[in-house]
This record gives sequence, C-alpha cells and structure tokens, in this order.
Amino acid sequence: MAKIFVTRQIPGKALEELAKTHEVVVSPFDRPLAADEIVEMGKGAEAALTLLTERWTGELMDQMGPNLKIISNYAVGFDNIDVKAATERGILVCNTPSDEVNEAVAEFTWALILSLSRRVVESSEFADKGAYRGWEPHIFLGRDVYSKTLGIIGLGRIGSMVARRAKGFNMRVVYYNRDKDTDEEKELGVEYLDLDSLLGQSDIVSLHVPLTSETRHLINKDSIAKMKNGAYLINTSRGPIIDEHAVVDALRSGKLGGVGLDVHENEPATNPEMMQMENAILTPHIASATVEAREKMTQQAVDAIVKVLSGEKPNDLVNPEAWLSKRIQATDSSSRIAVAQAQ
Ligand code: DGY
Repeated sequence: MAKIFVTRQIPGKALEELAKTHEVVVSPFDRPLAADEIVEMGKGAEAALTLLTERWTGELMDQMGPNLKIISNYAVGFDNIDVKAATERGILVCNTPSDEVNEAVAEFTWALILSLSRRVVESSEFADKGAYRGWEPHIFLGRDVYSKTLGIIGLGRIGSMVARRAKGFNMRVVYYNRDKDTDEEKELGVEYLDLDSLLGQSDIVSLHVPLTSETRHLINKDSIAKMKNGAYLINTSRGPIIDEHAVVDALRSGKLGGVGLDVHENEPATNPEMMQMENAILTPHIASATVEAREKMTQQAVDAIVKVLSGEKPNDLVNPEAWLSKRIQATDSSSRIAVAQAQ
C-alpha cells in the first residue's frame, strides 16, 4: 500500500475512504509541524497532504525520499511550497480551488466589509458589556457601502465573486489586474483602472492576489498615501501583501478609516497595535472556514492524490510543467513487491 502522510487531522469523510486502500499516516499533533517532524512521520510517503502552515522547501522534499510524487496543499494559496523546487524534482503540486471555497472567501470578505463599515464588532462588544442604555442618535455611526466605490485588486475567481455581490449594493466596482479582462468587465459590469487610480478612487480596497515577490508589501506607505482619506482596507488573501507598520501609522493618523484583516503579516501573530484599535477587525484566517468549503477541500486534496498515485493527471495541478518529468515509480502491489525485492 502506498504511504500517504497527512500533516494534520482535517474535516470530512474523504480521508477515511482513502485509508481503505492506502496507508494513511496522520500527524497526531493538533498544530503545525516543523520540517524534522514531517520527515520523521512522513519519510518514504508517496504523497503528502499538507496545510498552508507547513513550509515545503527543496531540502524537505529531498529528506522525504525519492518516492514522494505529489504534495497536495489543503488551500487555494500555495506560497508555503517552493513550487520551483518541486518541479525540478518531478514532484507534482496541487491545490484546492473550488466554487465552495471561493464563495466562502467572497462571503467572508463581505462580512468584513459590512462589519467594518457598520461597526458590528465594536457595537456588539458594547452591548455585551451591558453599556447599552437605550436608543441614541449618535452611537456607532458607520458608513454606507451603498453607491460607494469598491476597488478590487486581483479580479480572479474570488475577486469576481466579491464584485458580483457588490452589485446588490449598487456599488461602482473598479479592478486592477496585471491583465485587463474585457469579457469579465462586461459580464460583471466592472471597470479596469491602473493601480494608482484604483487606490485614489476607491472607498473600500479589497485584496485578492496571491503572495509572490511582486505582491509582497503591495500595500505600503506609498500606496496608502495614494488612497482616499478614510478608506477601508480589506485583506482575505495573504498577510504579507500588506506592510502592517504602514497600516498602523495610517490608522493612527486617520488616513485609513479602518481595516478588516483575516490574514496577517506574521501569522499566527496578529498585530499588537491593531489589536488595540476599534477600527481594525482582525480574524484568525477563517475566510474559507465553512463546513461546505472544508469538506470540499478535503475531497479535492484527496482526489488529487488518488489520481496521481494511479497515474492520472490531477485537476488542480499548480505546476503542469512537472507532468512530463514526474516521478513514475509504480504503486500497485505487484510493482511494490518488485521494488522491495530490488532494494
Ligand atoms: C486558502 O485556501 O488559500 C485559504 O487561505 C485557506 O483556506
């Protein structure tokens, strides 16, 4: 039986199904694993199912042994994996994008936008501590989102779903991408702007780009200076896209009206200064945390492994260029015996 190493217990039934036909080794620890722990428990595995909290370097891939054929990442983002190193070794990398996950993240983006603009978290804390004394005209005045301008940086699958929902609020939606997408513009009724114009015109800026060397600190002191005074900034993509020091300064000065951050520059740490600010809503990377999305993610991550181990091309291959040079040691029982005898 092929060994499959799973770095943490995950929701859904798919792992149980997998265990009927494969040797599934799941980490007993309810926490992220260090590289040496992954090697200790996972060495010799033909497949690894990993979370975004584990970092996969070329060195770790080598330490796992030559059988490792696929790293199946339990996330849409895959910045925790050195994909180039995997490709050089013929290891396939898969991720778990799906409508379920994308819709969940888009919904949560909206949860942050509305909570921030209508001060839901602050006012709930106020009520919880018994401070409510009766209706008042001045307490917790927020801002409408109706008819405002929403700026989406990264009009991919999630960005588009966020845009679609904005139409229900009669918003003007502008977007910035590396490439202009005229078809998507027509379908969604959105407008392309260059980055500086988007920053200058948006009441709310929402980030939906992957973390790469180009997007790291895309939101920094200079880009914030170009934003509208009092604008809101939302991030459900990856923390390091934002320079949090610059955001703290901008919240202090009032340049930014508030932030809704589900992802953080130094996860799992959340910014200690922002934690004290009422107009900073910080959540623990839960945008995709719905039962529906998680079950789908498990199924998808498992399906990719099953396909690869039976020689089929998986659906969500992040490095298709590795397909031709993939590791092809057979995994059926007869071949296993042959490998065992040869050793
Ligand atoms: C992802 O899928 O990349 C999210 O950040 C975690 O589910």
